[in-house]
Amino acid sequence: MTTRPISTDDAGLAAPSDEHSLSVGPNGPLLLQDHYLIQKMAHFNRERVPERVVHAKGGGAHGILQITEDVSQFTKAGLFQKGKETPLFLRFSTVAGELGSADTARDPRGFAIKFYTEEGNYDLVGNNTPIFFIRDPSKFSDFIHSQKRRADTHLRDNNMQWDFWTLSPESAHQVTFLMTDRGIPASWRNMHGFGSHTFLWYNAAGAKFWVKYHFRTEQGIRNYTGDEAAALLVDPDHHIRDLHTAIAAGDHPSWKVNVQIMPFEAAADYRFNPFDLTKVWPHSDYPEITIGRFVLNRNPENYFTEVEQASFEPSNMVPGIGASPDKMLQGRLFSYPDTHRYRIGPNYLQLPINQPRNAVNSYNFDGPMAFRSSQDPVYAPNSVNGPAADPSLYEGEGYHVTGELLRSAYAKHAEDDDYVQPRALWENVLSETDRAHLVSNVVGHASAPEVTADMKKRVVEYWTNIHKDLGQGVARGLGLS
Ligand code: NDP
Ligand code: HEM
Repeated sequence: MTTRPISTDDAGLAAPSDEHSLSVGPNGPLLLQDHYLIQKMAHFNRERVPERVVHAKGGGAHGILQITEDVSQFTKAGLFQKGKETPLFLRFSTVAGELGSADTARDPRGFAIKFYTEEGNYDLVGNNTPIFFIRDPSKFSDFIHSQKRRADTHLRDNNMQWDFWTLSPESAHQVTFLMTDRGIPASWRNMHGFGSHTFLWYNAAGAKFWVKYHFRTEQGIRNYTGDEAAALLVDPDHHIRDLHTAIAAGDHPSWKVNVQIMPFEAAADYRFNPFDLTKVWPHSDYPEITIGRFVLNRNPENYFTEVEQASFEPSNMVPGIGASPDKMLQGRLFSYPDTHRYRIGPNYLQLPINQPRNAVNSYNFDGPMAFRSSQDPVYAPNSVNGPAADPSLYEGEGYHVTGELLRSAYAKHAEDDDYVQPRALWENVLSETDRAHLVSNVVGHASAPEVTADMKKRVVEYWTNIHKDLGQGVARGLGLS
C-alpha cells in the first residue's frame, strides 16, 4: 500500500478534511472558527496577479546561451565573451489579447529574454519584429488603447485601429510587417526575435559602439495564412502547446545570435536616424555577424511562478551594455520596473524566476513579501566595511549630449521618411505571393463592418504612400476603384 502525505494548510497544520467544512450538525450553518476553510477561500480569492497590461497571453521556457565568437573588441559584458554559457528564461507572448486569448491572432509576438549572468540579470525584452509602431513613448498608451477595447461596447474595433495608424504615419513600416504572413507565425519556434532598439556596447578600454540584436530561428520561418489561423481558433493555446510538446519530446528549439555593429561616431550622419525604432539598419550598410546561439531545453514546472510572475525589464543591463538615446527605449527603462512593482509587488526581484544568480548586496530592503534577509550595515556610505560601489565597472558608458529642452520630433537624417523602408520591403523583399497576401490581409482587416467609408479612403491613402501598386490593390479589394 502506498503511503500518502497528510494534506496541510499553508502553516503546515494537518488539514481536518479535504472535502467537508465545519458545520453545526450535518445540515447546520458553518462556523467562523473553521480557519482551514477560511484560509482556503481567502487564498483562492487572491490567486491572480493582475494580468500584464500588454502581452498578457504567453508561454516560456528555460535555456542556455553559448557564445562562439570573440566580440571583446566591442563589449566587455561577461555573457558575450567567447566560450561563455549563460542560463536564460524566454517568454513569448501576443500583445493585445487578454490572458485567455488566441495564440494565433495577427499581432506582433513578444520575445523577452532574461539572461542570468554572473554580473546580474540582463533582460532583452524584444519582439519578433525589428521595428515598432511609434517612435515616442508618449504615444504608447494611446496606441495600445486603440488596439484593445472600446470604452462603450468593450469590443475591439478595427476602425479605431486604422484611425490611430493612419494618423500616425510612423506606424507604416510595422503595420506592413504585421499585415504580411509574418504577422501570424505558425509557432513561436518558427519566428525570429529582435532586440529592436539600438543599444550601446563598450569594451574594456571604454571604446563605444551601437548594436542591434537579431535572433534567427534555426527551425526556419513558418507562418499561417489568415484562413489557417482562423481554423485554429478552436485551440487558443496552440503556441503554448507547440512549445511545451516540442521541448518535452527533446526537440529543443534554437536561435542564432546575430548582431549589427555601428561605430559610435557613425551614428551622427548615418543616412537614417539609427535610434528611430521605426527603422532597421539595412544589411548592406551593417551586415549581421553571428556571435553564438541559444537553445530552449527545459519546460517550466509551474506556469504561475515561472511564467506569470516573470518580470522582464529593459533597464536590466550589465557593465559593457548601455542605453541609446532611442526615446522609446528611454520610456521603457521607466515603465517595466514600475509595472512590476504594481503587478507583482516591490520585492518581485526576490522571486526565484526573477532572482539574479550572483550575490545581491543591495541597500534596498523590507516591504511586502520580503524574503531576502537584510544585513547590517543598512546604509551607505558606511565605515564598517559594508558593500561599496565600483564606478570603474561602468567606465565607457557615458557620452556627451547637448541640446535645448523641447518637445519635438527627431531631427531628420538624410533619408528619413516613414515610407522608404516599408517600400523597400514591398519592392525588394516580398515575393509575388507575399504581396498578394499582404493586400488581402489588409483588405480583410479594413473590411470589418465597423470600418467606415471615410476610414477606408484613409486606409487606401496610407498604403498608396508606401507604394502605388499596394494602394491600388487595397483600393480594388475595398471596392474603391
Ligand atoms: P535584406 O534583403 O538584406 O534583408 C531583408 C530582411 O527581410 C531579411 O532579414 C529577411 O528575413 C526579412 N524578410 C523576408 N521576408 C519578410 C517578410 N515577409 N516580412 C518581413 N521581413 C521579411 O534587405 P535590407 O536589410 O536592406 O532590408 C530591406 C527591408 O527588409 C527593410 O526595409 C525591412 O522592411 C526588412 N527587414 C530588414 C531587416 C534588417 O534588419 N535590415 C530585418 C527584417 C526585415 P529572412 O532572412 O528571415 O528572410
Ligand atoms: C510588456 C510597456 C514598447 C516588448 C510590457 C508591459 C508594459 C510595457 C507596461 C507589461 C509588463 C508586465 O506587466 O510584466 C511598454 C512601453 C513601451 C513598450 C511603455 C514604449 C514606450 C515595447 C517595445 C517592445 C516591447 C518596443 C519590443 C521591442 C514587450 C514585451 C513584453 C512587454 C516582449 C512582455 C514581457 C513579458 O513576457 O513579460 N510593455 N512597452 N514593448 N513589452 Fe512593452
